[in-house]
Amino acid sequence: MSAAKIIDGKSFAADLRGRVAHVVGGLKDDPGLTPGLAVVLVGDDPASRVYVKNKGLQTVEVGMASFEHRLAADTPESDLLAVIKNLNTDATVHGILVQLPLPDHINENKVLSAINPDKDVDGFHLLNVGRLWTGGESLVPCTPYGCLMMLKNQLGDLTGKRALILGRSNIVGKPMAALLLQESCTVSIAHSRTVDLPDRCREADILVAAVGRPLMVQGDWIKPGATVIDVGINRIAAPERGAGKTRLVGDVDFASAAEVAGAITPVPGGVGPMTIACLLRNTVVAACRQAGVDQPGL
Ligand code: GUN
Repeated sequence: MSAAKIIDGKSFAADLRGRVAHVVGGLKDDPGLTPGLAVVLVGDDPASRVYVKNKGLQTVEVGMASFEHRLAADTPESDLLAVIKNLNTDATVHGILVQLPLPDHINENKVLSAINPDKDVDGFHLLNVGRLWTGGESLVPCTPYGCLMMLKNQLGDLTGKRALILGRSNIVGKPMAALLLQESCTVSIAHSRTVDLPDRCREADILVAAVGRPLMVQGDWIKPGATVIDVGINRIAAPERGAGKTRLVGDVDFASAAEVAGAITPVPGGVGPMTIACLLRNTVVAACRQAGVDQPGL
């Protein structure tokens, strides 16, 4: 029996997409602006292909223009940089996303730095990272922004809350810390080398798990009533479903955590759907800034 409220990321994301579609419709009427998102995929990693396909479909669904550039796995770095250069100056493209991971022969930092920071809807360019940490007007990485939206919806004002982020990646952990600090939380970042990790987790009013280890966080790691955001998406063997079957699980052991937490995101159906919805939101924000139009309250 679960005591926690289940935070429904799927319906939250659908709601955000609806609001994005409404703003996009308004921009088309006045000033006649259609936000455009370009996604660049290098190689044919199956998971990346699924993400890119879904991004394209959802972009079109909310009324925006979708551009896809699929490059072979052995594409030279210089060719990829040339594609980005073209997108940087293409007036119909307001957001650029280069799907990660990139093949080993391509320097990820060099590629991310080549994207026009105003079109960097992933928020990975160093200028946007710096702006996020110094309180400037930035584009914010989609997954942590989606987590923040769900936390604010669940808890309202986050001031003074103790937040612990498990994971220190550039894509989730670090930007999540910056965002929660901006909301006046007391923020800790824990990781695989943290001493007494379960004790540190038990101190947190807000626990964000983004460590990439299936089912790591147990119910007895959680402070009673805490809000738990599970960013992990891990595929594990599920012999109980039959030979060779698998299932998706988070970094949190949902069954035991839901007994203790006040609210928790499930996997799947929690953080995952919010990421693309926030990407669409970032693209509209970027388009408005580039066109000098008032920013929508999304
Ligand atoms: N690969 C996995 N997550 C992401 C993301 O948020 N952005 C990009 N560009 N690639 C990813």
